[in-house]
Amino acid sequence: MSSDTADTAADSAGADEYDRSAAEAAEAADLVDPLGAARDRFVLPEGLIYLDGNSLGAMPAAVLPAMNDALSRQWAGDLIRSWNDNDWWSLPGRVGDRIGSLIGAAPGQVMCGDSTSVQLFQALVAACRMRPGRTVLLTDGDSFPTDQYIADAVGRLLDLEVVRVHPNDVGEHLDARTAAVLFSLVDYRTGELFDAAGITGAVQRAGAVMVWDLCHAAGALLVELDSIGAEFAVGCGYKYLNGGPGAPAFIYIAERLLAELELPLTGWHGHRTPFGLDQHYTPSLSVEQARIGTPPLLSMLALDAALDAFTGTSMDELRAKSLGLTDRAIHYADARLAEFGVEVVTPREHRRRGSQVSLRMPQAYEVCQALIARGVIGDFRAPDLLRLGYAPLYLRHIDVQNSMQILYDVLATGAYQDPAYAHRNPVT
Ligand SMILES: Cc1ncc(COP(=O)(O)O)c(C=O)c1O
Repeated sequence: MSSDTADTAADSAGADEYDRSAAEAAEAADLVDPLGAARDRFVLPEGLIYLDGNSLGAMPAAVLPAMNDALSRQWAGDLIRSWNDNDWWSLPGRVGDRIGSLIGAAPGQVMCGDSTSVQLFQALVAACRMRPGRTVLLTDGDSFPTDQYIADAVGRLLDLEVVRVHPNDVGEHLDARTAAVLFSLVDYRTGELFDAAGITGAVQRAGAVMVWDLCHAAGALLVELDSIGAEFAVGCGYKYLNGGPGAPAFIYIAERLLAELELPLTGWHGHRTPFGLDQHYTPSLSVEQARIGTPPLLSMLALDAALDAFTGTSMDELRAKSLGLTDRAIHYADARLAEFGVEVVTPREHRRRGSQVSLRMPQAYEVCQALIARGVIGDFRAPDLLRLGYAPLYLRHIDVQNSMQILYDVLATGAYQDPAYAHRNPVT
């Protein structure tokens, strides 16, 4: 045997041993996982490892019967009577309060409806209007495009200068000109979690108003809006809240602001007396003013049912599980994937990490496609990130281990070089 062959054999024996003991540790962690049973609340395709709950959450089992009931009894049978008899009218507020319980908001401050983009517009215009005379709106140039596009549109509308700053540097840019600040709590690409309390405090000390985008946080990690004194927040219903494709979004407005607020989208559902059918708009005094028009009832009923999957769980448990899963993925990447030029871009400190692990690598797109072909679904974010999301309600530690082993094989064998994986789909 040549010395090269001997080295390779020794490496592979070492690798097998690493995987064996890592798999045993993952199985042991699953055995004592307090959230282990929650996986049964989801419909997950057999044999698939789903690491994209940060884009579209898996379907909770409770959604199917709820949809069946919504269609065949409520819509087909009860028809228009459902607004009263099935309490469709109060659904946006009820779902809002349920979401509120997952993001540290006492009842009466969260309204469900519309898309995140619409809610961003609502919150940002209202926030900027609270600081007349101030001329600057700060946002993160690395944040999700819709956030930046809406910030720019609000800037044009209200004649504000939009300045892009990184959340960690916001302190250097805050001054008496700053009207409002919009940041995502978790960077959608890198998974970096920002300091919600620290940033909110700094923004408020400068006399500005803070708007948080919680799309990558709600349902995955501890958010304590009331206790950090937050003002506005928005987020979507289809990621870690598992509300389904196109699920309605939500807006949080701190109760103390409700009386002084001027929301820009004044639809009739937000009127103080919607069925008074007044000619002019008078906003509801409560968070009901954040309703706009007729909500997407079926999607909202699906989201309502999906939220049952959180029953009996605490955000502390979810956060601990999420960190356990992402720790496991990061350890594996450090131990076994560095040799392929893979770099972990997600912060290693728990306090700075969301619920995803982003791996920078050449040909990340092709690697992502090769993984999907092998039953591991993550996603790709241009130009070079493989993004793996860890939804703590339904992922097991062994899923992390198995998916990383498959990733190792895809890289080690060069399987991702198959030309079929280079074909670019419209959605990556
Ligand atoms: C941070 C963030 N904001 C907003 C959105 C999407 O907004 P909308 O729900 O309006 O499509 C996403 C989508 O992934 C996102 O990651």
